[in-house]
Amino acid sequence: MEISNSEFNELGSQLVLPLFEGSGKAPNNSLRGLNRNQRSLVREALVSGDFDGKKGKRLTLWTPGCNIILVGMGEKNSLGHKRARNTGARLIASMSKKKGLEVTVRFNSGWTSRRMIDFAEGMMLRDYEYLLHQEIPEDHIGDSWRVDFQASSRHQENLSDGLIETHLVVAGVHLARDLGNEPANVLYPMEYARRALDWSKGKSNVEVEVYDWEKLQELGMGGLINVGKGSERKPCMVLFTLNPDADEGVQRPCIVGKGITFDTGGISIKPTGGMWDMKYDMCGAATVFGLMDSLHSTGYQSRVNGIACLAENMPGSGAYRPGDVFKTYSGKTIEVFSTDAEGRNVLSDGLWKAGELDPEYIVDLATLTGAVVTALGNQISGMWANEEGIAKRLKAAAKRSGEPVWRMPLNAQFRKYMTDSAFADIRNGSIGGRAGSSNTAASFLEFFVPHRDFNEEADKIPWVHLDIAGTAWGPGSKARSEGVNPLFQYGTSGVHVRTLHRLITEG
Ligand code: BES
Ligand code: MN
Ligand code: ZN
Repeated sequence: MEISNSEFNELGSQLVLPLFEGSGKAPNNSLRGLNRNQRSLVREALVSGDFDGKKGKRLTLWTPGCNIILVGMGEKNSLGHKRARNTGARLIASMSKKKGLEVTVRFNSGWTSRRMIDFAEGMMLRDYEYLLHQEIPEDHIGDSWRVDFQASSRHQENLSDGLIETHLVVAGVHLARDLGNEPANVLYPMEYARRALDWSKGKSNVEVEVYDWEKLQELGMGGLINVGKGSERKPCMVLFTLNPDADEGVQRPCIVGKGITFDTGGISIKPTGGMWDMKYDMCGAATVFGLMDSLHSTGYQSRVNGIACLAENMPGSGAYRPGDVFKTYSGKTIEVFSTDAEGRNVLSDGLWKAGELDPEYIVDLATLTGAVVTALGNQISGMWANEEGIAKRLKAAAKRSGEPVWRMPLNAQFRKYMTDSAFADIRNGSIGGRAGSSNTAASFLEFFVPHRDFNEEADKIPWVHLDIAGTAWGPGSKARSEGVNPLFQYGTSGVHVRTLHRLITEG
């Protein structure tokens, strides 16, 4: 989507009028550029009550030269970011490019610049398709929408800044979606690394470093090595640094992502039915990449680190086994209960590595447990945190972004369930079995969050874990699930790129 903003002068081939409930007549300026017949059609629709502006209502008036779409926004005073964003998303999903690519969206009285930008964000987020590996139908229009957002002069500056920034952040969301949607035969660990290196080229304030198979051995990153060694596609760690020379001596955020490019379960193999979508098991790492891109493109000046832990979890004669005990990068040992609890193994190395960067806080994202889907469904990510301040900040950023999180518990019981292995420092499965198994997974990760300066006397580094197993991808393009999350249609969501961009840039 190409975007612009202006006052009410130009008129495209499609005109969108988002109107509030009870706007009995067409607001000033909204009909500018339409001819007499077109104007009276709109007026009649409003006066007759055929269109009442209630939320969810939409009325399309096709006229020669301009397709006019009236969009019901509901009650003016209660319009929040969520309704604005979702309505924008549903609108663009309903529009046809065949009726013209030049779209004019006119915001009138009652609209604040923030709500305009939320509405536009919804349109941008939903304007996504992934057609890389298939024949494109002949009547498919690949050209971009060109949308001009129009409002009165006093909004122009806010609107312009907000739209440009939002557009760049959404590009990061779409990059994360592209990575997630790529099939596992295309996107394997070293291919992710290659793309990250490629992305960094020509960007003077970006550094990407790759720890390949040899380097992992050298460093003793046993979590990545053990999970990845059953596959011919070897594991790696990708380290992103934005603005490496900024903020010397200042603690800055580090974001860590689970990147299992395919999760068969390994020797503890998954049942066939539940396996195809395990290509999405790298969505945490996809979000890290998308976030780095959005921070870079929006001109963020401070240092930020990202770490992607990439491996393919396969069975085979070289694969790790249940009962194996191995040493992680931290020096702590893991007893393998299930090779299918692989995400936490790779993250153990990522979290420890993050500690070496002496970060202000660590956020990890992982499609970690099926149980979080049972607990919270597909619209809310599970959140665990070891520190109140960062938990609150992240929760607020997530809420404002329309990517809600729900705080879940860490406690001594869950810790105990993981740490009373008879053979190692910790076991990757819980003695409690399925009881609270998203919480026990989080406790496992907590075990690998370093103390400040690796000094056991000091507090642990503030850390938040986001389990995105339910939110990273949708149930597919089933028509009836459409209403559930209008921000994307099928495949991956790119969840929490926007949350983290907001957390990092707005504090
Ligand atoms: N990638 C899965 C979690 C998952 C399952 C995400 C379904 C989305 C949908 C993870 O690696 C896994 O297999 N977790 C196990 C943990 C168990 C073996 C302790 C699970 O959730 O069953
Ligand atoms: Mn697994
Ligand atoms: Zn997994």
